[in-house]
Amino acid sequence: MDVPFLDLKPQYASVKQQVLSAVNQVLDSQVCIGGPKVEQLEKAIADYCGCKYAVGASSGTDAILNTLMSLKIGSGDEVITTPFTFFASAGCIVRAGARPVFVDIDPATYNIDPAKIPKTLSKKTKAILPVHLFGQMAHMEPILALAQEAKLAVIEDAAQSIGATYKGQRAGSMGSCGCFSFYPTKNLGAAGDAGMIVTNDEQLAHTLRLMRNHGDESTYEHRLVGGNFRLDALQAAVLLAKLGHLDKWSSQRQKNAAYYDGAFAACEQITRPIVAKENVCVYNHYVIRVPRRDELAKYLRQNGVGYMIYYPVALHMQECFRQLGYKQGDFPQAETAAKEVLALPIYPELTAEQKDLVIERVLEAVAG
Ligand SMILES: Cc1ncc(COP(=O)(O)O)c(C=O)c1O
Repeated sequence: MDVPFLDLKPQYASVKQQVLSAVNQVLDSQVCIGGPKVEQLEKAIADYCGCKYAVGASSGTDAILNTLMSLKIGSGDEVITTPFTFFASAGCIVRAGARPVFVDIDPATYNIDPAKIPKTLSKKTKAILPVHLFGQMAHMEPILALAQEAKLAVIEDAAQSIGATYKGQRAGSMGSCGCFSFYPTKNLGAAGDAGMIVTNDEQLAHTLRLMRNHGDESTYEHRLVGGNFRLDALQAAVLLAKLGHLDKWSSQRQKNAAYYDGAFAACEQITRPIVAKENVCVYNHYVIRVPRRDELAKYLRQNGVGYMIYYPVALHMQECFRQLGYKQGDFPQAETAAKEVLALPIYPELTAEQKDLVIERVLEAVAG
């Protein structure tokens, strides 16, 4: 038996009729851009996150880009973020014309270390962009306090963390806004690309709506230069059909994580995911750390267990960011994590046999 890193088919089979009927409604109506499904999903996601407004986006990336553009963050501005994240978090800052200023991570949670933010603040800083990595929120209170004092926006990259909480508050609901991705591998996945921005700021929600449609209020009078950042009605239909199952799926991920945690507890070479006491983690990924990670990866590859490395190269070391002037050694925690982390299969539909096989193979590998 092989265990894939992710298999989306069993989950799709469990919701197929709901998804097909929702998709058919859109096709029958031929309202394929905007329309009731997009509006219903926006309302449902706003409610789910405990926010007043939600604005659909064409992807998680476009949710972040639209946010930066709507906040008028661009040339000459700096945005503080983590170097240990998916490329889009920092790529969007550069695309908006601003400069990402990286801050090292807390090695326990892999999220930005708020204690290291103050010395990177400058007159050019316009926002802090914490990323809630792997399903766990960043330490938001000190981040929000710093932002309030320096009058900065806080843009939560919650792409991997829909439903996660920090002191009882949902991901996306604590900062100026929160950006979600519904990429198919996320806890709530579309049948393609899709995203969402949630906020309690009415003015920001209005600007985001304008900007996602080329700054046009459907009158062909363009008040702002935006883009095509619209959420597709077919994707909204798929997501609406799945949203009611999200908590059940996330709780199954938590159960899987607890099972792995128990099995790896006695193994000294394995550092299990550490969830801060304020947090409820939704485990978009279950990431362990081992000193000889590449040997573990090779063994799993040879023995039919899927895995992923999130992320093998910290962002300050990416070739396309060379002009930012960072060098090896600038962010030691992120650099060490990049060498030691490995994500194991965690999807909700894993069978007991599959989980046991993953555990067996991992323990065999680290025992050498
Ligand atoms: C942390 C993070 N930010 C942003 C994104 C971008 O989302 P998308 O792939 O939907 O554009 C992703 C998704 O892959 C992500 O994991």
